[in-house]
Amino acid sequence: MTRRSDGGAAADIAAGLECYWMPFTASRQFKSAPRILVGAQGMHYVRDDGARVLDATSGMWCVMAGHGRAEIAQAVGAQLARLDYVPAFQMGHPGVFDLAARLASMLPEGLDRVFFTNSGSESVDTALKIALAYQQARGQAQRFRLIGRERAYHGVGFGGLSVGGIANNRRGFGPLLPGVDHLRHTHDPARNAFSRGEPEWGAHLADDLERIVALHGASTIAALIVEPFAGSAGVLVPPKGYLRRLREICDRHGILLVFDEVITAFGRLGTAFAADYFGVTPDIMTMAKGITNGSVPMGAVAVRREIHDAFLATDASGTTIEFFHGYTYSGHPVACAAALAALDIYRDEGLFERARALAPYFEDAVHSLEGLPAVIDIRNIGLAAAVELEPRKDRPFERAFEAYLRCFEAGVLIRVTGDTIALSPPLVAGREHVDEIVDVLKKTLKNIN
Ligand SMILES: Cc1ncc(COP(=O)(O)O)c(C=O)c1O
Repeated sequence: MTRRSDGGAAADIAAGLECYWMPFTASRQFKSAPRILVGAQGMHYVRDDGARVLDATSGMWCVMAGHGRAEIAQAVGAQLARLDYVPAFQMGHPGVFDLAARLASMLPEGLDRVFFTNSGSESVDTALKIALAYQQARGQAQRFRLIGRERAYHGVGFGGLSVGGIANNRRGFGPLLPGVDHLRHTHDPARNAFSRGEPEWGAHLADDLERIVALHGASTIAALIVEPFAGSAGVLVPPKGYLRRLREICDRHGILLVFDEVITAFGRLGTAFAADYFGVTPDIMTMAKGITNGSVPMGAVAVRREIHDAFLATDASGTTIEFFHGYTYSGHPVACAAALAALDIYRDEGLFERARALAPYFEDAVHSLEGLPAVIDIRNIGLAAAVELEPRKDRPFERAFEAYLRCFEAGVLIRVTGDTIALSPPLVAGREHVDEIVDVLKKTLKNIN
């Protein structure tokens, strides 16, 4: 059998169809009618039958600059030819220092020490470990608790699952980490349905952290982790002032604030980071996805310098390892080359500004879907939006999944999570792409009962 991954690989796909165990997929449904993509350029994917599909989801929130960027391909190829791999421990290479410095120059003031991982999940688990070990390093080892939030998605590692709050992802995996508690989530459709941007109501929901502090004692809490807006739960946008209030409460009680920016970093809100958009700086920030424009797996964790330096201070001799953590592929040369090329594109093409300029048009367009059958809420922020559908009686998730399949057939790739449709187009999208996405959705939703 020839091994190919191009458009003529129908025989190969048939051979591997049963062997491939798919992530987060209804595999029997998929395998009964596989959806196969064989190419991508700009705003479009190409299907195995040659049809083009408009990407309304940036792949999975990661392809910010559009697909098939020659600059990234060139940088990756050159790096592979020059230096394919370097041991990540006790060794360095130019790209990893370049990238750390480059990120530090973009990050909010104060966050300028960067640890590399290979995914969002690894970034989250790394951030949680840094938080715990930091508390220990500064003589607060009794701060062992980690606080997450209901409906949060922080990846699939045991740390991220534990602080995460999506029930389907958690059940089935045992008791998870001990010493974890959750804030209530911020979504209240009765008050905030069809909000444009940040809802007016609900900043006080941040005070739920005070309830948790009262219950456990602040002196036992290491860190709070939140997504600036919850993406995977269906674009749950924080109420105005909510994140600032969380910051204040964390400061009051010596609790580290971690922002999981795996989907918000690199321009989704029209700023480099959501921290910039909301004017709230966390102590630790996770990233992944857009760091390489989705081209090569990579993640990163940025921390305040004092956090990093507290690790160094634990050993006056300067000869022992300060943080017993890392991955074979931390700061992989090829991922660094891809990331540096992606960051160049973001800067040279002004993509964050471009996203900011398109956001009001995008907002108007998605809110024009209000009033269609079964649409019970529409939410948006930056270039992210959700259209929530009323679940069918006794058959949750079915309606949105049907919309997903129909949109794909009509040439638009959307994402669904439960009965919510999520849209997050690449930052290179133009008004014509927004129009097409919304037109196809409109026609689709009109015909789904
Ligand atoms: C906020 C957030 N954190 C973590 C992750 C996990 O990232 P990965 O799938 O790269 O492990 C995701 C993935 O969507 C995410 O949205």
